[in-house]
Amino acid sequence: MRHLIDPMDFTDKETLMVLDLADRIAANPSQYSHVAEGKKLATLFYEPSTRTRLSFESAMLSLGGTTLGFSGADQSSATKGETVADTARVVSCYADIIAMRHPKEGAPLRASMFSRVPVINAGDGGHNHPTQTLIDLMTIRQRKNRLDHLTIGFCGDLKFGRTVHSLVNSLVRYPDNQFYFISPEELRIPDYLIEDTLKPTATPYQEVTSLEDTLPKLDVLYMTRVQKERFFNEEDYIRLKGIYTLTADKLQLASNNMPVLHPLPRVDEISIDVDMDKRAAYFDQVQNGVYVRMALIMALLGLTDPQTGKEVALC
Ligand code: CP
Repeated sequence: MRHLIDPMDFTDKETLMVLDLADRIAANPSQYSHVAEGKKLATLFYEPSTRTRLSFESAMLSLGGTTLGFSGADQSSATKGETVADTARVVSCYADIIAMRHPKEGAPLRASMFSRVPVINAGDGGHNHPTQTLIDLMTIRQRKNRLDHLTIGFCGDLKFGRTVHSLVNSLVRYPDNQFYFISPEELRIPDYLIEDTLKPTATPYQEVTSLEDTLPKLDVLYMTRVQKERFFNEEDYIRLKGIYTLTADKLQLASNNMPVLHPLPRVDEISIDVDMDKRAAYFDQVQNGVYVRMALIMALLGLTDPQTGKEVALC
């Protein structure tokens, strides 16, 4: 039995296999409408979500399966003191696969140790968000036709932004990628990512503060929201929240084929005048989220791909 807790849980080959399957589903979603009949997905969300929870549910329903779950810790027996380990044991009696979001780093990993069914990390604190990474990779590949030889700029809250941490970990596996990390000092990328990921892979990177100066150098821009819910101090959040705003005017500094990604939700870091620009890729990411999660459910449950007639198998 396999889980997806960290983007590194899948090899490069497995990651590409899931992305290829997501592309096939995107090209012909109706062909997949019965592949998970009789299967149940549990969504255990201890923290708010719009996209991740609803797209997991949409994915399972689109595969012909069903869903159950809760959308807040206050709706579960966590309020009575039940542990994540016990909850995982219990829910794995009810469902075939679990997607869990939790504010504590490591909670989905803990659940996977006690679950009898595959567990998917749907975001744990400021740590990882591996299914968002699959979406981001799918979208970059659609827009650039490759995942290598790219200069990627990450802008905003690089300290708490778990989607950034997961995507950096994944992109270093493809040759000749380099990064610009655009943030204020207080929100710079964590040291552990530099020491454990960037240095060992000899990945070139620069930490900078100016979005305008960096835009002309980029193949891909990944904007992020300042993560209000992770701040200890409201004053710091208010001081930092509006620090970067991408506008249609600023986007003129970038190349014509530089996609703008954002995991969403956005607050004010991308103005709505960017939405009409063909480089805006963030609503493509939302749509891709359903296809990626359909592919992931199929892979973790070993379901049969109607296009090949074979069970989807992770290596
Ligand atoms: N991108 C993302 O994780 O969005 P939600 O918080 O709405 O799930």
